[in-house]
Amino acid sequence: MRQLHLKKAQISGAHDGPLPSWDRSSRGGGGGVRGGEESRGIDEAALAINHLLGIAALGLVCVWCGNVRGGLLWNSPNKDLLFNFHPVLMIAGFVFVHGQANLTYRTLTGSRNYKKAIHFLAQGLALVLGAVGFLAALKFHNDRGIDNFYSLHSWLGLTTMTLFVTQWTVGFVSFWYPGGSTAARSSILPWHIFSGIFLYTLSLVTAETGLLEKLTFLQTSQAIERFGRESTLVNSLGLILVLLGFFHALALLTPKPPR
Ligand code: HEM
Ligand code: HEM
Repeated sequence: MRQLHLKKAQISGAHDGPLPSWDRSSRGGGGGVRGGEESRGIDEAALAINHLLGIAALGLVCVWCGNVRGGLLWNSPNKDLLFNFHPVLMIAGFVFVHGQANLTYRTLTGSRNYKKAIHFLAQGLALVLGAVGFLAALKFHNDRGIDNFYSLHSWLGLTTMTLFVTQWTVGFVSFWYPGGSTAARSSILPWHIFSGIFLYTLSLVTAETGLLEKLTFLQTSQAIERFGRESTLVNSLGLILVLLGFFHALALLTPKPPR
């Protein structure tokens, strides 16, 4: 945390004027990813790989649920089609949109207020997609008469969603409206960024346990073959999520280029 310096002089009003910002160019000596020009290439490459992996994850889950698993339908006698909303919306919200939202300060050009508005709106969109995805799993369980919240995956999921709502609310109140004092925001920001990276990791872990659980259900009921195409597809998606975790942390821990 100490390595992530904040330029206090850059901090001003709630959402007008210069905003709190990491002084990553001064992080050279403290370990971690070195600051300055030499990390610019890593930063750009990590962002590009993030976009590619995010699109790949979203594409694979859409192919899996939308095609291989029979498609998505909220009101259908075939409850599997209702369940299919869950993986798609969870990966769309808590992996793809959440990931892109975390990176807005690095990927967008424009004023700081513009980037901040997109940042919090996109995090809000991630939450909405995730909430609908959660309702799909809940309705699926209730319609089928299956117990709720019995699995490690569901506990991790509830934890992820609770922390996400907390992070969004604290972020909004501190940095947008009404906005904390300069001193309060400068002390909250390092924790905000740390929690943001942690939350993304937790989302990936939760998604991994969900994939594992669903795949194990399908394999043990012999609905699919262990070495069949569908197992390969889901395992590949799981590996892509691990790579995303690596490149996401790398992109966020390299110094921010001036835009
Ligand atoms: C769950 C929701 C949220 C998550 C996961 C999250 C995550 C993050 C992350 C990872 C960063 C570091 C970005 C970077 O270094 O490039 C960041 C920065 C920031 N976030 Fe959030 N955030 C959330 C909600 C919000 C909200 C609602 C606001 C209110 C406006 C906000 C305001 C900011 C600000 C001002 C920064 C500092 C940008 C800078 O370096 O100048 N965040 N957030
Ligand atoms: C960050 C993303 C995710 C979150 C926050 C999440 C959250 C949850 C929650 C809270 C439940 C419990 C619903 C209930 O008991 O009524 C659940 C169920 C379930 N989820 Fe996820 N999920 C995520 C991603 C995934 C993914 C990618 C899959 C892959 C197929 C998946 C598969 C399942 C399955 C099979 C269930 C029903 C069995 C159980 O309750 O564990 N989830 N999820």
